[in-house]
Amino acid sequence: MAGIDLSDRSKVLAIIGQGYVGLPLAMAAVDAGWSVIGIEKSASRVEQLNLGSSPVEDISDERLAKAIAANKFVASNDPAGVSHASVVTICVPTPLDDSRNPDLELLKSATKDVAPSLSDRTLLVSESTSYPGTLREVIIPIVNSLKPSTTKSLYFASAPERVNPGDLIWDQKNTPRLVGGIDEESQKRALAFYNSICDSVVATSTPEIAEAAKILENTFRLVNIAMINEFTQLCSAQGINVHEVINAAATKPYGFMPFRPGVGIGGHCIPVDPLYLTWWARKGGQVASLVERSDEIANQMPIYVAERALALAKASTGTPKVLILGVAYKPGVGDVRETPASALREALVARGAEVAWVDPLVPFWEGTQPVSEAWDCDVAIVATNQPGLNLKPIRERGVPILDCTNNYGDLQGVELL
Ligand SMILES: NC(=O)c1ccc[n+]([C@@H]2O[C@H](COP(=O)([O-])OP(=O)(O)OC[C@H]3O[C@@H](n4cnc5c(N)ncnc54)[C@H](O)[C@@H]3O)[C@@H](O)[C@H]2O)c1
Repeated sequence: MAGIDLSDRSKVLAIIGQGYVGLPLAMAAVDAGWSVIGIEKSASRVEQLNLGSSPVEDISDERLAKAIAANKFVASNDPAGVSHASVVTICVPTPLDDSRNPDLELLKSATKDVAPSLSDRTLLVSESTSYPGTLREVIIPIVNSLKPSTTKSLYFASAPERVNPGDLIWDQKNTPRLVGGIDEESQKRALAFYNSICDSVVATSTPEIAEAAKILENTFRLVNIAMINEFTQLCSAQGINVHEVINAAATKPYGFMPFRPGVGIGGHCIPVDPLYLTWWARKGGQVASLVERSDEIANQMPIYVAERALALAKASTGTPKVLILGVAYKPGVGDVRETPASALREALVARGAEVAWVDPLVPFWEGTQPVSEAWDCDVAIVATNQPGLNLKPIRERGVPILDCTNNYGDLQGVELL
């Protein structure tokens, strides 16, 4: 494999998947002295990476180019590259299928791709989010059935990624990392690896504890977001300003954590991971009823927002024109995966609206291009407070604005969700 220093196998890491999780991990490992092979299925992404152009916001082109120039990073679409590595991490997507059940096809196919090339005494870690038991019941059996006959000992661990794209404070290095090895030797090796790239590593007694903890973290978010969104609807119907209520409650120095209402839940984690939990519960003959209800409330929220916005519109024609400001699932990123703006747009269109959008970080969304803030509309909705949004031209025209982000409530003509 040209262009990378593979002289010391004990310091060679292969990462399967070079996205929001895999690429930041690669750069953190390079900083810690590892040589990293970024194995990526998408040929265009491999080419882009090797040209020093980063596809994720958290990694600058300069940082990537520096790693390449130092012969410490190369991207490749050859899964056989794992044979050079002492540590292999899987960082591929774990989405939902059409029935909103866990879809482990990418995880399984990535495992199948690399298993035949794993060298003896390799540590294989799954960082992908999944239900408890995925490492033991899904990944390890695939590896054991496909590994080379010369590969006698392999080590396995689960170390779910907690990265928060766009976060300027918490990153790969300073976010404590959960590590659960399948046995003592696996745990020892996994702890040593993560201690080399993270400031703080937390050992769990089994991989299932680490897997379940990750699901718990994101389910906690879903349930609280759903609760505050439901509470917002109750307050609004009774003429109470929910933000004042939250601010008041937040003065309690213990036992309360403020969550804010919004258009809904988005991204690859909060709308998805809790459904791994509900599926896992049902597989075990139980029902995670609070989580299932939270998912329903979260999915209904964009409809509520659409109706609130349309109630503000003073349409001159029968077709209200609505401008959505910010369509990425959160501020500071161009990621539109699972964005609640999609359901918002659908709900608006279903109610007869003409919808356009603006997002300084998103050039193209679901087959449509952005307009500008000057677009002639009857109401605007701030769905995501994207840096670079300009409300001035909208306010100057006296167009009402529904702010779902709790940022512009002091401005005249702006109503908070
Ligand atoms: N994005 C987040 O904020 C975040 C945070 C924590 C955990 N996670 C979890 O991390 C995992 C990865 O998520 P992500 O956001 O990095 O996904 P992503 O879509 O940004 O990147 C995944 C990459 O893997 C590649 N890929 C898919 N199958 C492959 C294969 N067989 N071989 C090589 N490459 C392959 C894809 O082409 C893609 O580039 C998921 O389980 C996710 O739930 C994500």
